[in-house]
Amino acid sequence: MASTHDAAAGGARQGARVLVASNRGPVSYEVREDGALHARRGGGGLVSGLSAIGPDADALWVCSALSDGDREAVRQGVGEDGVRMLDIPADVHADAYNGIANSVLWFVHHLLYQTPLEPVFDTEFRRQWASYEAYNRAFAEALAEEAAPGAAVLVQDYHLCLVPGLLRELRPDLRISHFSHTPWAPVDYFALLPDDLRARLLTGMLGADRLGFLTRRWADAFAACCDAFTGGTGGTEIGVHGLGADGDFLLKRSHEPDVEERITELRAEIGADRRTIVRVDRTELSKNIVRGLLAYRQLLDDHPEWRERVVHVAFAYPSRQDLAVYRDYTAEVRRVADAINTAYGTDGWTPVVLHVKDDFARSLAAYRLADVALVNPIRDGMNLVAKEVPIVSDRGCALVLSREAGAFWELGEDALVVNPYDIGETAEALHTALTLPAEERERRAGRLAAAATALPPARWFLDQLEALRAIDRA
Ligand code: F6P
Repeated sequence: MASTHDAAAGGARQGARVLVASNRGPVSYEVREDGALHARRGGGGLVSGLSAIGPDADALWVCSALSDGDREAVRQGVGEDGVRMLDIPADVHADAYNGIANSVLWFVHHLLYQTPLEPVFDTEFRRQWASYEAYNRAFAEALAEEAAPGAAVLVQDYHLCLVPGLLRELRPDLRISHFSHTPWAPVDYFALLPDDLRARLLTGMLGADRLGFLTRRWADAFAACCDAFTGGTGGTEIGVHGLGADGDFLLKRSHEPDVEERITELRAEIGADRRTIVRVDRTELSKNIVRGLLAYRQLLDDHPEWRERVVHVAFAYPSRQDLAVYRDYTAEVRRVADAINTAYGTDGWTPVVLHVKDDFARSLAAYRLADVALVNPIRDGMNLVAKEVPIVSDRGCALVLSREAGAFWELGEDALVVNPYDIGETAEALHTALTLPAEERERRAGRLAAAATALPPARWFLDQLEALRAIDRA
């Protein structure tokens, strides 16, 4: 892989042959109390996917500095091989990331607006949009500078929708793809965006040779928006790549000593012989955690026989806390969980075990203990938790799954499928899941695990790279 220092300096190198671009990169830095920089490597599908192309592939990952530690690392020239972090001014990044990507594009694709009051496209919005343009341009310029002739560039997600078009202008020789990790909005909802900007977003993405989506549903929604607003998708190829879970890694990691320790601790919190309904999410508006808690409360009302016999293990890890609406949602999750514990709890039974501190080993411990996995998003690109819990659960869990998660298209047949807004239906699905005979549950979990691992991250990434390279650009 190319070295960061060479990459940052330009140097006499030939340029990378495979480039990935995303807002969040594979590494982040923290300034310790003694002033030293500490690097932390991230996980996730893209990281394991990229590792599959091997150290000789001459690959470079271009990402954004997100924290003070990241910015300090860039300034000191500290970096990892194969990674170039862009030190985009903090205010520009904040407007692009918090203001546009997470407060507008994320809301549009996940249908999150309360439309009587939102969205408001005013002068402030236009100012933030200018930052989104500048941030996308910074990526396009860095990629243009780093790419070898004819290189493959794989741009990720809604933060970087304009990069394909901008990069195409700078480097017509490159093979460019863009992958959406989110759903895509239906035409009437995408139409909320100002006319000029919805066209700008679509044509920005159509600057790519190839666009990837997690399900056919999201790919069709994108194509429908293009039909409505840009006269079609032009010559851009559209592909569907349903990212799967890394089963081998998860099974191995979930049997390491730190996970065993967390299992002992969690079991003590839950109580022996009790059933578990497990959910693990970022505290994200689209994940529908509050309605999940309300459905659990309804289960305890409609089926009082479950009182004292079941615990809802809910891990809700902080996310996007710069945004007030996320902070409020986090507070609401706590409030509802506390209210259930106050109303129903007894001396020996805490109905909801809520943890908010991110702890990967403890998440895996919860997966192993799961009798039921609750995955009920309002809307979700895929949802890897739905895929991971059936693989890892010791006894084979039942899956209660929203029909609005991308994973529904792959796992729906063996899951108990719910409308995420319907609390009563979700409560009843939880009851059915808890009462499934053990053999039936294990059989379903086996099929869920097989479907969940059908396209592991490495294959997911290589399929896209091969498809991009195979495009005839003559
Ligand atoms: O779902 C889209 C996505 O970019 C994921 O790839 C990722 O899990 C999530 O959003 C992370 O969001 P953020 O970087 O804002 O924490």
